[in-house]
Amino acid sequence: MSVTLTRDGNIGVIVIDNAPVNAASHAVRAGLMTALAEAAADPALQAIVLACAGRTFVAGADVKEFGQPPRQPLLPEVIDAVEASQKPVVAAVHGTALGGGFELALGAHARIAAPDAQFGLPEVKLGIIPGAGGTQRLPRLVGVAAAMEIAASGRRVSAAEAVELGAADRIATGDLVEDAKAFARELIGAELRRTGDLAVPEFDPAEADRQFAAIGRKARGQLSPARAAHMVRRAFELPLAAGLAEERAVFVELLGSEQSLALRHVFAAERKAAKVPGIEGVEPRNIEAAGVVGAGLMGAGIAVSFADAGFSVTVVERDKAALDAGRARIEDIYRRMVKSGRIAEAAMGERLSRIRFADRREAMASCDLVIEAVFDDLAVKRELFQSLSAIVRPDTILATNTSYLDPDAIASMVRGPERLIGLHFFSPANVMRLVEVVRTAKLAPDVLATGLAVARRLGKLGVVSGVCEGFIGNRIFTAYRRQCDFMLEDGALPQDIDAALEGYGFPMGPYAVNDLAGLDISWARRKRNAATRDPSERYGVIADRLCEAGRFGRKTGKGYYTYASGEKAVDPEVTALIEAVSREAGIERRSFTSSEIIKRVMAAIVEEGRKILAEGIALRGSDIDLVLINGYGYPAWRGGPMFQAGVE
Ligand code: 3HC
Repeated sequence: MSVTLTRDGNIGVIVIDNAPVNAASHAVRAGLMTALAEAAADPALQAIVLACAGRTFVAGADVKEFGQPPRQPLLPEVIDAVEASQKPVVAAVHGTALGGGFELALGAHARIAAPDAQFGLPEVKLGIIPGAGGTQRLPRLVGVAAAMEIAASGRRVSAAEAVELGAADRIATGDLVEDAKAFARELIGAELRRTGDLAVPEFDPAEADRQFAAIGRKARGQLSPARAAHMVRRAFELPLAAGLAEERAVFVELLGSEQSLALRHVFAAERKAAKVPGIEGVEPRNIEAAGVVGAGLMGAGIAVSFADAGFSVTVVERDKAALDAGRARIEDIYRRMVKSGRIAEAAMGERLSRIRFADRREAMASCDLVIEAVFDDLAVKRELFQSLSAIVRPDTILATNTSYLDPDAIASMVRGPERLIGLHFFSPANVMRLVEVVRTAKLAPDVLATGLAVARRLGKLGVVSGVCEGFIGNRIFTAYRRQCDFMLEDGALPQDIDAALEGYGFPMGPYAVNDLAGLDISWARRKRNAATRDPSERYGVIADRLCEAGRFGRKTGKGYYTYASGEKAVDPEVTALIEAVSREAGIERRSFTSSEIIKRVMAAIVEEGRKILAEGIALRGSDIDLVLINGYGYPAWRGGPMFQAGVE
């Protein structure tokens, strides 16, 4: 680690070099104080550029120091010293200026950004709020509404947006540090613009109230977003010093909270998930051209996700009609993205131009990776892969997106079974972050490494799973659903269970989700498996009865609920059906409290999780947590079921 001061004429250039992400650790803070003092004392220097070496500007406070006794100088003091400098300081931002990094830049008198730089206050994602002036300085530059949104969401802001909002002053057109020096020269002799001295612009309090309420609702039990938004608003009410002190107090309070511990566990878990024994140092294969077989809901989402990430994509369907339908589906996804403002019209055209469509498998010949997303039937998939493995190059990676079939049974049909991997996406695949990367029996280490690398390039979270029915996620979900179904027979109603889980922090309860996804798919699977089911095991029949009555969920207007009015509503017919099932089984129904429901569900999840760990299907408890959080709506701020149960 080093912080250096070099001189270019009358400009002092302070460079922070603390790989990998220039976190503001103690040595960086101390080094910055020394460099600032040296620059201040040097009469030859008239302005200062603050820049970083390596891949990014400061990406935040050093999370490894959280929980340790604080060591002087603290980051707020360093930022105060930057702001107080008598010589203009220009922050030259590249990479990601996050958290304490963004706050450091806000303390400078001007900010210049590389075109692809990003800014953000992701503290809320760690269960805390900015603790070094972010909530107090940002609104002085961008106003309360924008600052509340940025601090409460933790999202990244592009350089262009930062300039538009006023958080950054300009975008570099040439070399960032050279442009920053030129900018610094312009500021010599001018009055210094100290962010902390600016007044927070007036805002509409009623609108801010509405925004604040929406932030609270969206957080579903997580505390930090509303606390961050509240502190932003306080910036309007308090002088800077008082605002900074209050912000720091909230930061320290939340740092010790259970939610922050849980979210920091998730942060560490995500980094751990990429470290897989057996593939350390193994180079992934180069993937540029991806093929997707099947353009149904799942295939279309997968194709979009690859095109979004810059891959060239070939989509194959069995005939012209299916292909046209697939193309329409993909175009529709993009049209909705444009309509909701997530991407510009031009980006849609660009991404669509990366996708070509074909009705013959031979079109896959030049692909580096082919993913299958066809009907989940073993015979269909075996035939497909057998034929594909003769079409593609011997080093092309073949991936199955099966949810329940045995990928080893598919691999046995492939020339070179060591190249067949499972890449299990979650629907909608262009939105959901989780990909289970399934390690088949003969899988080559570099194919596994490639699976993880591709997930990462897609902006997704890859979690390695061994082979078992349902892999990590669906296997646990099945155990969890089983308990819920038993509770229905024992006395609970779908709305009781959904309300309990939504109260726990899930965005939707399992029955509302099931209605959305459709009840018929799992019904078909249960019918297929009926012959091999252990007759001595308890089996919940309510789902079957609903399907027999033609209630397949939202698409038929009825499922666990009725949607006759367009809105989800409790259906007395369902209540009667459930009560009848209990009666037939001789069960005396009793009521369940929310906490009882949660206890049973969590016990079922953890029990299955322990089995999965014992069998080596998941590498660690934290991987199971990531699957539940990113694939099934488990609230991240609780850290995950295995974290809650203390299972590593
Ligand atoms: N402190 C310490 N180490 C950090 C770190 C941080 N803030 N951010 C990342 N790292 C480490 C990671 O643990 C990882 O270590 P490893 O190689 O030993 O596993 C390494 O840096 C690389 O990280 P990634 O694998 O995540 O690299 P990416 O290139 O994918 O992403 C990143 C880089 C965008 C900077 C991402 O790491 C990130 O989002 N980091 C967290 C940023 C953050 O939350 N900052 C706010 C911190 S809280 C704060 O600033 C409080 C302040 O208000 C007082």
